[in-house]
Amino acid sequence: MKIFFKNNIINKPIVLIGIMGAGKTTLGKKLAKHLDMEFYDSDEEIESKTGLSIKIIFKEQGELAFREMEEKVVTQLLLGSKRIIATGGGAFINPNLRKIIKKRAITIWLKTDVDLATIRVKDNKRRPLLNNVDVRETLSVMIEKRNPIYSEAHVTVESENIPHNKMISKLLYELETQAAIKIKKQI
Ligand code: S3P
Repeated sequence: MKIFFKNNIINKPIVLIGIMGAGKTTLGKKLAKHLDMEFYDSDEEIESKTGLSIKIIFKEQGELAFREMEEKVVTQLLLGSKRIIATGGGAFINPNLRKIIKKRAITIWLKTDVDLATIRVKDNKRRPLLNNVDVRETLSVMIEKRNPIYSEAHVTVESENIPHNKMISKLLYELETQAAIKIKKQI
């Protein structure tokens, strides 16, 4: 899908979506630096607002309470203009929030296969949905269910195990070609 912006200039937030381990936070920070934009991570915002870790929120208040906080926080973050927002993997799956994100932002899906996602998350115990389960199997089921929804993003970029600067170049290229956005600065 091609979307066009006034003078081909980025005038909206850019929202990164995709499965856990896609690299949304890492690449989002680097993209923000490259484009001179502010960076926000929705999970970090929730943690700093509540003073609780995502793991504790899930454990003590449940997933539903977390999803409500996530919807509120992402909606608030979308009120800003130019900024990069890395969302938690479930944010775009929430139909209400998805509608808001698609309306207010340029969405980039970091499409990731199960092998890469598994390698990236396997030693990190901070993700409640991956605790005490077979991580690869859980991610595989999630990817199958969620990919058709993630594919509604304006721009799709295949996540690869390559140096970050190469991934950023690829991301910028896809933004330009798939979303018709002119990026002045190049790496
Ligand atoms: C989740 C992804 C996590 C975090 C929470 C739930 C999900 O964020 O929001 O554990 O449902 O996919 P990351 O995608 O940044 O790991």
